[in-house]
Amino acid sequence: MRKKIVAGNWKMNLCFEEAEELVEELIDLLEDVELKSEVIICPPFPYLEMASDYAQEGFFKIGAQNISPFEAGAYTGEVSASMLDSMEVSHCIIGHSERRKYFNEDDKMLTAKVNQALEHNIIPIFCVGESLPERESEKHFEVVRRQVRHGLFHLDTDEFAKVILAYEPVWAIGTGITATPAQAAEMHAYIRSLISERYGEEVSKATMILYGGSCTSKNAAELFAQPGVDGGLVGGASLKAEEFVEICKLA
Ligand code: 13P
Repeated sequence: MRKKIVAGNWKMNLCFEEAEELVEELIDLLEDVELKSEVIICPPFPYLEMASDYAQEGFFKIGAQNISPFEAGAYTGEVSASMLDSMEVSHCIIGHSERRKYFNEDDKMLTAKVNQALEHNIIPIFCVGESLPERESEKHFEVVRRQVRHGLFHLDTDEFAKVILAYEPVWAIGTGITATPAQAAEMHAYIRSLISERYGEEVSKATMILYGGSCTSKNAAELFAQPGVDGGLVGGASLKAEEFVEICKLA
C-alpha cells in the first residue's frame, strides 16, 4: 500500500517568530507519536531555511509554495528550483488554484515550473480542481482532465512517476465546505483513470493523489479512508500544531 502523505500549506501567513514557534510545537508533538504517514510542511520562502534546519530532526520534509519557471538570471523576485534544492527543500506546490487565479499562472507556465522542479530534484505537488460554477455546470471532469493533461502529460514515465497530485476543488478551499468523501473518491478515481490511459495501470496505481479543501481533524479520517485518496494537502488547519498533527495521525 502507498504510504499516505499529509502536507501543510501555510500560504502567506505568520511572522517569523510565529513560524518558528509552530515548527517547534510540531516537533514536540510529532516526537510523541508513531505516524504511518509522511509529513511535509510548506512555509513561505523566507522561513524555508529555518524550517529546513528543524527538518534535520527527521519529523517532516520541507516543501516550497512556489518555484520559478526559469533556470537562473535576471528574474527579479523569483526563486529558482536549484536554490530550493540547495536549501534541502524536497517538494514544491505547483498549480495551486490561488496561483492560477491571482497570478495568472497558465498551463504553459505550470509546465515550465514542473520541468524546473524535476530537473532539480524537487518533487512537484501538482494541484488541480474545478471552481463552483464549473462543478455546478457539470464541467468538473473536463476541467480536471485538461489541467492534468496540460500540466503533466508531457512528462515521460520516469518523470511522471515522481509527481504527487492534489485534487483541490476550489469551492472547498478555505470555505469550510469539504467535498463529500464520495465526491473526492470519484474524482481521484477519474484522475487515476487518466493516468492509466497515458502511463499504464502500474504507474497509475503507484501515483499519490492527495485531497485538499477544508480538511480538518473532523473530516480527515473519512476522506483518507476513501479508495484512491492518499492523504491531504491542508491549508488553514496546518497553522495549528495540534490540529495538524491530529490530521497526520488520521492518515
Ligand atoms: P484549506 O485547508 O484552508 O481549505 O486550504 C486548502 C488548500 O488550499 C491547501 O493547498
